[in-house]
Amino acid sequence: MSGHGTPIPMTSHRAEPLKGVAEVPGDKSISHRSLILGAMAIGETRISGLLEGDDVLDTAKAMQAFGAEVVNHGGGKWSVFGVGVGGFAEPDQVIDCGNSGTGVRLIMGTMATSPITATFTGDASLNGRPMARITDPLALFGAKAVGRKGGRLPMTIVGAAEPTPVRYVVPVPSAQVKSAVLLAGLNAPGKTVVIEKEATRDHSERMLAGFGAEITVEDTEEGRVITLTGRPELKPQEIAVPRDPSSAAFPVCAALITPGSDVLVPGIGLNPTRAGLFYTLQDMGADLIFENPREEGGEPVADLRAKYSPDMQGIEVPPARAASMIDEYPVLSVVASFASGKTMMAGVKELRVKESDRIDAMARGLRANGVTVAEGEDWWSVDGLGPDGVPGGGTCESFLDHRIAMSFMVMGMGAQNPVTVDDGSPITTSFPIFEPLMTGLGAKFTRA
Ligand code: S3P
Repeated sequence: MSGHGTPIPMTSHRAEPLKGVAEVPGDKSISHRSLILGAMAIGETRISGLLEGDDVLDTAKAMQAFGAEVVNHGGGKWSVFGVGVGGFAEPDQVIDCGNSGTGVRLIMGTMATSPITATFTGDASLNGRPMARITDPLALFGAKAVGRKGGRLPMTIVGAAEPTPVRYVVPVPSAQVKSAVLLAGLNAPGKTVVIEKEATRDHSERMLAGFGAEITVEDTEEGRVITLTGRPELKPQEIAVPRDPSSAAFPVCAALITPGSDVLVPGIGLNPTRAGLFYTLQDMGADLIFENPREEGGEPVADLRAKYSPDMQGIEVPPARAASMIDEYPVLSVVASFASGKTMMAGVKELRVKESDRIDAMARGLRANGVTVAEGEDWWSVDGLGPDGVPGGGTCESFLDHRIAMSFMVMGMGAQNPVTVDDGSPITTSFPIFEPLMTGLGAKFTRA
């Protein structure tokens, strides 16, 4: 869990030129899915490179509560001894998913088509996030949900004893919703069909296929049509989790705005549904190249080399790219502050329902550091101040949101004056080695 303890104020001072190799941890999305699908297979799934952040550790505990055996061998190597599709036991405790929307939504989906009842809760951030987007489609399978006003956690799900498969058009671009429906469909007899109008991260589809489920994906006029045949016997897998592009974003962006930097970020997952930030940075004129492209564990991977880039220009980020970089807009807005001209980010309403309202959280912190920001319900823009133009000197609230905290720590590395974050404790949800990794490259962080 996170954000339950004492706040950790952190300050980021102007950095030395960043040099070296930044080995970021495993992908968060793939780590959650490895544990959950491992629990749905029969036998031992072996995982290497698992992200050992709080979010994923909470999912590991949840899988144990539902009856799977989860073993930590150390050094990022884990085993899950699964109970098979439909094999979940009823947990005897409340499932606490901490800060993790992905954890709670995927697990709710997975248990919703079994004849068991489970109650879910999380930290203040998670308990404020909308769950109706999950419980609406789960009701179609026959599951019942009772939560707080507005469909908030804590919430109890009564799984369907006789689930029926569904055909569901996902109303918002959300991989969590898509995945929850697919995972529920695993234990429904017959074909569950999920249609998404905009492609979102496709790790669930890839991994379900890898575990032996019958799943097809078709691009049609209606959108991406995903068809899953229920009640498969999933086969345990060996999974090597690629390094997380959403975590790589921080050392990459820090290098672009810190004079004299040259950083290599190796082995980064570059699934096209995740890599939008890097193309956007290249469009802005960043000195960022993909070296040694290859495939690892069914995912495209490359080494990223990022160098100080004083000539970046503001751009209009294509709204069609939003889903492939949805978690990266906070740190992109920091880079945009160091570019010349305006950066416009539209089609990003989903940012308002993340771990925080990320448009609001970033706008407040950027303004506190001398940057001009304009915003509407589903867009925002940042007026770049040029490579050495960001005054800094402000204190930013992180709102229990790891990516807000890390984005402002990056900002301080290139700003004229130090930038302070009121609480850096949420960083451990996704990037537990953020502080040593960044200071190892040349960042200067202090704790107040
Ligand atoms: C995730 C999906 C995205 C993303 C989150 C991880 C996933 O959320 O923001 O960090 O692993 O499926 P949404 O489904 O809400 O877009």
